Amino acid sequence: MRYVVLLALILTALFAYKQISTNSMVVSAAVISQQDDAKNQTDENDLYGLPPVPIPVNNPQTPAKIALGDKLFHDKRFSVDGTVSCSNCHDKQKAFTDGLAISVGHHGLTGTRNAPTVLNAAFNPSQFWDGREPDLEGQAKQPLINPVEHGLADHKQVLEIIRSDPDYLATFQTVFEVSGKRLSIDHVAKAIASFERTLVSGNSAFDRYHFNSQADAMTAAQIRGFELFIGQGRCVSCHTIEQDHALFTDSRFHNIGIGINRIQQDIPRLAQAFLEDKNKGGDVDKMVLTDKKSSELGRFAVTDDLSQIGAFKTPTLRNVELTAPYMHDGSLKTLKEVMVHYNNGGVAKAGEPVNDFLSGGIRPLDLSDPQLDDLVDFMKALTSSKFAVPTSTQAAN
Ligand code: HEC
Ligand code: HEC
Repeated sequence: MRYVVLLALILTALFAYKQISTNSMVVSAAVISQQDDAKNQTDENDLYGLPPVPIPVNNPQTPAKIALGDKLFHDKRFSVDGTVSCSNCHDKQKAFTDGLAISVGHHGLTGTRNAPTVLNAAFNPSQFWDGREPDLEGQAKQPLINPVEHGLADHKQVLEIIRSDPDYLATFQTVFEVSGKRLSIDHVAKAIASFERTLVSGNSAFDRYHFNSQADAMTAAQIRGFELFIGQGRCVSCHTIEQDHALFTDSRFHNIGIGINRIQQDIPRLAQAFLEDKNKGGDVDKMVLTDKKSSELGRFAVTDDLSQIGAFKTPTLRNVELTAPYMHDGSLKTLKEVMVHYNNGGVAKAGEPVNDFLSGGIRPLDLSDPQLDDLVDFMKALTSSKFAVPTSTQAAN
């Protein structure tokens, strides 16, 4: 009798397990089949060292949609003075950044933050330095109507331009089977997001060294830098490396002591004023990109959680060699300056007092100057071969 009960239990467990594994197989098969479409546009090698690109079920990749997104991304007509497209600040020639400390929008207006690369943004579980948008679709709608970026009054202006352009109308009809009033800003955002999901870039010297055991893919200095990265530097605790891929971000928010020191005295007043404005219906996207001090509140602006003051999203380090200047405010000009900041424990000069909200993960590292140089060299091993700039010796050959 006891055996019968035991057998029944085992069978139930097996059945439940099969159900679960079949379900997850179905899910991954769906992702993979859409993935194949994405591959039409993406060189297989680009994905080396990266996980599969997550594709939302309600926005599958198709070549026509990706091409439409590419066109929208580069179209300057979607701005108040006809000079600004997404690619102004996310320029392929600059690894999809703008090379500026703070981005410049229409009529030369400046915002408050540094433009992050769009390369590999497809993997971010949230978008923007403070994660205020959950996905690429949501993100793409914001710059168009931000007063210091594209500067349009509302999304209707985007749709008017599209509806007066026969080429766009025909393409939206083919891609989404919509026209007239049914063509909405959500279709525009979906096409842009699909294009962005092709902007993936792995396949760096690090990937060949670490995931393919190619011992000579990195230089001796880069290998020493890698050891510091995962050892004494403790960088990997936030800029993560997984078993079979590496995004170099935990996608979480940390205060590492950037920008915040300038507003330290002002925080109680600023935080309260910000919450009051937000409760009155203030738009967080506009508030943080038009007011320098509000920008420094970081993740707090999204969650209202005081412990997240000055906390920003861990950025990927892939292609970081090409995306200077650094940090959410573009305040650090070189990778060496970044390493010095970490070595000092989150302050510009060793021994300065740290801010009240500093992450527990940031403290003085006690690394020597040559070790900081090794870390910088390691950062250069993260450049995708597609974006690698030939060194002067290679160029001479
Ligand atoms: C005037 C410069 C400018 C323009 C134009 C611009 N961006 Fe950005 N972009 C930025 C800045 C600055 C940020 C960071 C803002 C923040 O985090 O608050 C950003 C953030 C992003 C991010 C988030 C990346 C991440 O890692 O979190 C994506 C994706 C993006 N932009 C795509 C676009 C698209 C799509 C367009 C066009 C519809 C666009 N941008 C237009 C400057 C610009
Ligand atoms: C506690 C988490 C944490 C640790 C530990 C950490 N980082 Fe960061 N890193 C971040 C965050 C968050 C940012 C963005 C901060 C900001 O802009 O305010 C960042 C930014 C950077 C940047 C600038 C990237 C860009 O695109 O602007 C580099 C380079 C960098 N980190 C390298 C390192 C190295 C090397 C180490 C180890 C010495 C390290 N990080 C340790 C969280 C961390």
